[in-house]
Amino acid sequence: MNTVELIRKKRERKNLDENEINFLIENYTKNKIPDYQFSAFLMAGYLNGFSAKETSFLTKAMLYSGKVINLNSIPGKKIDKHSTGGVGDKTSLILAPIAAAAGIKVPMISGRGLGHTGGTLDKLEAIPGFNTGLELNEYKSVLKKCGAVLIGQTKEIAPADKLIYSLRDVTATVESIPLITASIMSKKLAEGIDGLVLDVKTGSGAFMKSYEDSVALAKSLALTAKSFNKKVIAFITDMNQPLGHYIGNWLEVYESIKILNGEEPGDLGELSFNLSGAMIYLGGKASSVKEGIEISRELAANGKAFQKFLEIVKLQGGNTDLIKSPHKYPESKYNEKVYAEKSGFLNSIDNYEVGMASLDLGAGRLTMADKIDPKAGIIFYPKIGAKIKKGDLVAELFTDKKEKIAPVKKKITGALKISGKSPQPLKLIKTSFSY
Ligand code: URA
Repeated sequence: MNTVELIRKKRERKNLDENEINFLIENYTKNKIPDYQFSAFLMAGYLNGFSAKETSFLTKAMLYSGKVINLNSIPGKKIDKHSTGGVGDKTSLILAPIAAAAGIKVPMISGRGLGHTGGTLDKLEAIPGFNTGLELNEYKSVLKKCGAVLIGQTKEIAPADKLIYSLRDVTATVESIPLITASIMSKKLAEGIDGLVLDVKTGSGAFMKSYEDSVALAKSLALTAKSFNKKVIAFITDMNQPLGHYIGNWLEVYESIKILNGEEPGDLGELSFNLSGAMIYLGGKASSVKEGIEISRELAANGKAFQKFLEIVKLQGGNTDLIKSPHKYPESKYNEKVYAEKSGFLNSIDNYEVGMASLDLGAGRLTMADKIDPKAGIIFYPKIGAKIKKGDLVAELFTDKKEKIAPVKKKITGALKISGKSPQPLKLIKTSFSY
């Protein structure tokens, strides 16, 4: 096979077969195809697209570039969730203990935050001592003991994705639905799962801003998972405002603890219970998603979900005293309040800007090398549709960076569109489908 011929084939809008895709991925991963040729292939694929079959071949080739974890020695269905991420999206911290408390095995390999969105690993690492870098044998051991484990991508998992993602990042080929699908699914399928719940976000704080693109991504992810005989339920959910009220790593752990303790769920609890409900159903511990949601609510109300979270934190080396007494966590140097500049109804929020404001305060990173301040972030109070009076408290900022306070206040007030007209209520879960 000849790399130039394969690039030409994609350039001419022809489909590649499984052997051809394997050739490209295998040889690129072994450093036998140079970056300039693989970049040309990526761009041809970005512009001309890949069929569902090609997407499945890409996923398979990337998946088998590394290890597929075998969890057969651990009894029970293994179900995970993948979210495309957003602002204040901390549902993994809530649904993993809930699903585990319901008897599901949750093997979760998560990512870090980049740009305006947060990452589960950074949130967990806000808990002092919490080890997200477990070896695969420890990963299995924690999963077996308590039913859930949350770690970062190891060098054994889909190494081709790591290389290809870095190249996509610098060749303007990230935003391709088939390439995103293969990247996400190669990592998820390596976990050793039986089923997957997908939460594809849509709106101003999402990776996919338009509803149509979000549906297309959800379908592509779900069809690819199905081609590997995995059961899938996909949700398209709103990301036009922060999920819950807390944004920032420790702040999000804090809010998760509140939901796990059965406090007022709000949009965050509602979405978390829907996702864990779907996981419980896929794992065979409920006869419908609706029953799975009821089980989830019950596990939050009766304290079992919180106990399970404590168990996970303990087994992964985290400080459980701070989970039991979260108010003892170290405080930021500055806690500043932001007030509404006018009266009216909150019509919309530029949620991307709110995510970036949190990053500015120290809660996120612009490059993978940036260091995160786990204490930093925002409590964002109003939801879209709220009636606001000039001078009302809209947000609280937590940071050690004094110089960031004034520009972030401006960013937050600038992100709010307040007018005399009451907006249409937002639907949190836009649609869902299963395969
Ligand atoms: N997340 C991934 O893991 N891969 C992509 O390509 C995009 C988002």
